[in-house]
Amino acid sequence: MVSLEQDAMKRAAALRAVEEIEDGMVVGLGSGSTAEFAVEALAARVATGLRIVGIPTSENTAGLAHRLGITLTDFAQHRRIDVTIDGADQIERGTLNLVKGLGGALLHEKIVASASNRLIIVADETKLVDWLGRKTKLPVEIVAFGYETVLDRLAAGGFEPTLRLDGGTPFITDSGHYIADCGIAVIPDPSGLEMQLGRMVGVVESGLFIGLAHQAFIGRPGGVDVLESERR
Ligand code: A5P
Repeated sequence: MVSLEQDAMKRAAALRAVEEIEDGMVVGLGSGSTAEFAVEALAARVATGLRIVGIPTSENTAGLAHRLGITLTDFAQHRRIDVTIDGADQIERGTLNLVKGLGGALLHEKIVASASNRLIIVADETKLVDWLGRKTKLPVEIVAFGYETVLDRLAAGGFEPTLRLDGGTPFITDSGHYIADCGIAVIPDPSGLEMQLGRMVGVVESGLFIGLAHQAFIGRPGGVDVLESERR
């Protein structure tokens, strides 16, 4: 349940992040409720003369941005993105390593993040953790064909996977894949886990975002903290 206060913190973080966007930029448009506040704030600046183009991380965000008058582009036109503003489900203090994908857009988000010169994460303070793991499931995008065997492999690895459902049938990502939500109590070695998952047949991508975020704009009661990644 998201409280009004939590929404206010998300909006404050998003508004602060959008102040970083300058004329002429290619902007990565994240997914999820906090990123949507950023898209709305960006659209308000576009309406008053800011000239940017956006690359969306999901069909939902593409629809929202289009409706609000943001010009969209793609990687055929622009191989690099100046700044991406996206949300997260867990943000590790210090490293700014992330868990993402509860909204189901992790693959496209990771591609956009990896092509970005600067990735700003926007969130309310409830997303900050000392260690990645316990707070939410870890989403893992898997190929639909033979997904049962991928779930078996994840289970054998101790990852406690659950196939994500949407109204009783598998949730389908924008790339036509499924998602296994994995229960992992603590992730002491996120890079090692990302590599381990990446080596599994049928795994497309995990929701671990390691060393990708440059900054996190964290909304809290009374203000927004700007955290810098200690890795960069
Ligand atoms: C989408 O796939 C996720 O990675 C989102 O970035 C994440 O779920 C954050 O969403 P909220 O801002 O709604 O919490």
